Amino acid sequence: MAARILMCRPDHFGIEYEINPWMSRRRAADRRRAMQQWQRLVELLGSLGASIELIEPVAGLPDMVFTANAGLVYKDRVLLSRFRYDVRQPEAEQFARWFREHGFQVVELPEGHYFEGAGDALFCGETLIGGYLFRSDVRSHHWVAEQLGCPLVVAELINPYFYHLDTCFCPLRPGCAVWYPEAFDRYGRLAIEQAVPELIEVNQEEAYRFACNSVVVGEHVITPTGCPRLHRTLRLYGFEPHEVELTEFQKAGGSAKCLTLRLDGEDAAAWRTA
Ligand code: ARG
Repeated sequence: MAARILMCRPDHFGIEYEINPWMSRRRAADRRRAMQQWQRLVELLGSLGASIELIEPVAGLPDMVFTANAGLVYKDRVLLSRFRYDVRQPEAEQFARWFREHGFQVVELPEGHYFEGAGDALFCGETLIGGYLFRSDVRSHHWVAEQLGCPLVVAELINPYFYHLDTCFCPLRPGCAVWYPEAFDRYGRLAIEQAVPELIEVNQEEAYRFACNSVVVGEHVITPTGCPRLHRTLRLYGFEPHEVELTEFQKAGGSAKCLTLRLDGEDAAAWRTA
């Protein structure tokens, strides 16, 4: 069965506020280039057999392109995000409507719980890994895992450049993930080492090029450009690496993975109905 991926055209993408250290209003994104880079990602995903579904972009919501933050999809349910910053909060109702219209049951977290979806919560095998501090709260991950009845491992993020889990951790298949351990506190690192037996470490240079923000489709892994070391390692593990230049989106603090939301379950998720 083809991978189903939700994306959003960057028609209204831009750097209009600063909510992570990558963003600076003085370093604007070039919308034409952004469109070309995004298009290239879409084409590559299509050539790998993925089917892309689109949500209509909305003026005034420049970060809506980062569909990974719409929510956490689990079978026909989606745990809708509650964004930390008010500038992104209006995205939630847009995504909620899209999910309802496409047959998903939308579950909202209790008020006062911050949760940024697949940006901070990723399955690796049976286990849900939850990153917290900058965006999602630790109690949100507990609430979500309780709803889904799945084992949970939480890990605290300590470096503001790696403010979402998907900027420093990328499950490849059950029991195997790419990560940048320095982005986690000591306990988080230990917890992930216990939960994920095969861990591929990226170095600092490639971590800051968003090496961990990669999209997995079967044995294919799409990384941002500039991660040759990770590409070599991925080949040794039996994966086929690809790269796409996503520099315009990196000015907003996101890359390949954040621009996608897997609707049928990530390849690394044990519950995946393939
Ligand atoms: N500018 C966006 C933000 O700061 C980028 C989101 C990137 N998404 C992700 N899943 N890492 O919220």
